[in-house]
Amino acid sequence: MKLFDVYPLFDINVVKGKGCKVWDDKGNEYLDLYGGHAVISIGHSHPHYVEMINHQLSQLGFYSNSVVNKLQQQVAERLGEMSGYKDYSLFLINTGAEANENALKLASFHNGRKRMVSFLKSFHGRTSAAVRVTDNPKIIAPINASIDVTYLALNDIDGVRTELEKGDVCAVIIEGIQGVGGIKIPDNKFMQELREACTQTGTILILDEIQSGYGRSGKFFAHQYAGIRPDIITVAKGIGNGFPMAGVLISPMFIPVYGMLGTTFGGNHLACSAALAVLDVMQEEHLIENAAKVGAHLMNELKQFPQIKELRGEGLMIGMEFAEPIKEIRSRLLFEQKVFTGVSGTHVIRLLPPLCLTMAEADEFILRLKKVLL
Ligand SMILES: Cc1ncc(COP(=O)(O)O)c(C=O)c1O
Repeated sequence: MKLFDVYPLFDINVVKGKGCKVWDDKGNEYLDLYGGHAVISIGHSHPHYVEMINHQLSQLGFYSNSVVNKLQQQVAERLGEMSGYKDYSLFLINTGAEANENALKLASFHNGRKRMVSFLKSFHGRTSAAVRVTDNPKIIAPINASIDVTYLALNDIDGVRTELEKGDVCAVIIEGIQGVGGIKIPDNKFMQELREACTQTGTILILDEIQSGYGRSGKFFAHQYAGIRPDIITVAKGIGNGFPMAGVLISPMFIPVYGMLGTTFGGNHLACSAALAVLDVMQEEHLIENAAKVGAHLMNELKQFPQIKELRGEGLMIGMEFAEPIKEIRSRLLFEQKVFTGVSGTHVIRLLPPLCLTMAEADEFILRLKKVLL
């Protein structure tokens, strides 16, 4: 059997990682400014993370959601405290798309409505409702197309009000910072007015913090820059530092009913150990503060490159929009300078490093970028 060929691959076999560095099978060392697509939060193979998962595996790898799982309760408690959402409830699943599916479902169960509002350039996953609220017709299959969605421009509060006042919108789903769309940050004022419009019309506000959350923006959640509280927040990626895991944070206004949501693997013992290790390390090593500090330093240093037409970002979620297509720059960064970066479209390079990136590593990246650009 061969692999179903859906990924354009770099011919690099990554076999080892430590902190913000990875190594290939030929022994080449790379600086990881991509974090495996914003997934690595506390750094590759952190010793505490390795120990926690190993220990759990030696005790119990998995049991189903039909019995008490104290680890889940610990994750909920710790996440509530660290994120500022102590009064919310947590539902655990395995992937970002699944988190958004459950969030959209919950919203629809709650107010009985069907139409969704989403934003141009948004990305929310590749399954059913999650892909339907994603603004990319190429990945929406005919089977997904029946869900009713209206896409609006980011920051278009008049458009939002017009749609919500019709009274049939179930939920608005928005990323804390658009990731796949090229690091686009919604205005704080827009977020505040959006919150207000949702409240006034009985529409559920869902914040997709799958890429922008878990400390990446320099706050626990990117929407906290606007000082708002959504009804539902979705998290994935950094929550397990590479162990597949995701969560839905649910406001107390939602009443749970047995069976309304469910999953086989979600919140399993190994995933919870990974998530607890992540929260331990984030707290002990002050990684949110580090993301804010090192991110601000990177943003400042990146201003020196005239080729960068526009620089956008918060913390360690940075988009560099170039006047020219970035294919060659990214390729030279990877193969000549041994730096992993991400992209968005044809003109934006995305930086999504582990949140433990040091000042010295940030400076090393700038040095290597200079070798490519200057
Ligand atoms: C904002 C956002 N939402 C949802 C997803 C989907 O997550 P997953 O690939 O884990 O299903 C992604 C993945 O890139 C994302 O960036």
